[in-house]
Amino acid sequence: MKYIIPTVALLLLLGCSSEQQSTQETQEPSKGLVETLQTKASEATQQVGNSVKEGVEAAKQTTQDAVESVSKTAEEAQQQIVETTQKMSNDLQQATHDVKQDIAQATQEMANDIQETTQDIQEAANNTKAEFNAAATFKRKCASCHGATAEKSALGKSQIIKGWNADKIISALQGYKDGSYGGAMKGLMASQVSSLHTDEIKALADFISKQ
Ligand code: HEC
Repeated sequence: MKYIIPTVALLLLLGCSSEQQSTQETQEPSKGLVETLQTKASEATQQVGNSVKEGVEAAKQTTQDAVESVSKTAEEAQQQIVETTQKMSNDLQQATHDVKQDIAQATQEMANDIQETTQDIQEAANNTKAEFNAAATFKRKCASCHGATAEKSALGKSQIIKGWNADKIISALQGYKDGSYGGAMKGLMASQVSSLHTDEIKALADFISKQ
């Protein structure tokens, strides 16, 4: 194609120049040759044009196919991602639910254990409190005058309280506390029992009655 047009032009020129010099007989074959060449050239141009068109068409088709296949793959991948994400999200939700339940159960069990332990401690504290207090209080506050087992007459003035029953001891101690009981040294005993509560007096009386 590149060479066809210059060649045709050259031949035309040659044809024209030979026309000036040539006779009528030599002019005729040149003209025919030019026409043939022109036809061939236009045919070749046409062919090349067709080939180019076909090439462009094929390229277009290939591109379109490629675009379609890429977009289809992308769509599939997207679908897969959506499905996988959904599944993961479901799994995660389930796992979270399970863990939550486990924690709740464990917490409940721990709370129960703590409550039981607290009750045990409370009970143990209650059990030790009464006995311990009475014995320790008697030893600390009373034994110096009344003797370790309440067997003495305090300061040589009081009655021996060992052998008294609890009620008798309680009414004597309450009497000292409110001033309604006692002999010459009742003021001394009042100061001994003024800080004791009713249940403490009761506990002390119980303890003394068992000596
Ligand atoms: C400092 C010595 C002393 C101490 C300590 C003491 N007492 Fe007395 N207690 C006496 C004397 C003295 C009397 C007699 C008081 C009176 O005149 O009524 C007495 C009387 C009593 C009586 C009545 C006995 C009676 O003769 O009618 C009881 C019961 C008693 N004391 C219990 C206690 C107890 C319980 C404690 C400890 C919380 C205690 N005393 C601490 C000195 C003491």
